[in-house]
Amino acid sequence: MKIIAVYLSTRKGSVSGRILDELTAGAEEAGATVSRYRIGDGILGCRGCGSCVKAGKCVVQDPLTPYWDDLQDADLVIVGASNYMGNVMGQAWSFMNRHFCLADTSKGRENRVIRIPAGKRIMGVFAQGAPNKDIYREVYRKYLKIFSAYGLSAEEPIVVNAADLTEERLAGCRAEGRAWVEQA
Ligand SMILES: Cc1cc2nc3c(=O)[nH]c(=O)nc-3n(C[C@H](O)[C@H](O)[C@H](O)COP(=O)(O)O)c2cc1C
Repeated sequence: MKIIAVYLSTRKGSVSGRILDELTAGAEEAGATVSRYRIGDGILGCRGCGSCVKAGKCVVQDPLTPYWDDLQDADLVIVGASNYMGNVMGQAWSFMNRHFCLADTSKGRENRVIRIPAGKRIMGVFAQGAPNKDIYREVYRKYLKIFSAYGLSAEEPIVVNAADLTEERLAGCRAEGRAWVEQA
């Protein structure tokens, strides 16, 4: 199994980052390969330039640039993001918006073709301050669902907060990451 882990929070002690570390370390222990993108500080938004229609991939040069080739043979993308103002952080929207390039509309919108092989999944680890894990769940679901239109089928969001940074919970995340691979 090949996993791409996208870290969007650059905050020291990031909760989403810590959980992502454990999930992906567990997956690696079970034999997965993991590509890590720590791009929260450098990711640019979609410019709407339309160059991807001809180029076949996003032409924006930033820390996400190697991702498009990496994605071709990945099985799972897992994105870690913070909740800001009741929504996913801006960098997470930029990351998602850039997937626009995966839809080939050169033969018209009605003949739209997705440029990556079918069967890939996307998961999200969303860190928030609020203790109630359900209050923003629909926001996270809606965010992930948009990727489905670009060839990545959305899994149920993983919602975390600082109370999850216990040894027991982190060990549970590591076991969960191992299980992804063992049960695949
Ligand atoms: C600008 C800003 C806005 C925030 N807004 C919310 C919010 O609306 N709801 C919430 O539950 N937490 C909010 N938080 C808290 C963060 O979601 C929380 O600290 C989370 O752990 C950040 O993710 P990270 O630890 O991966 O960096 C906010 C934090 C910041 C800095």
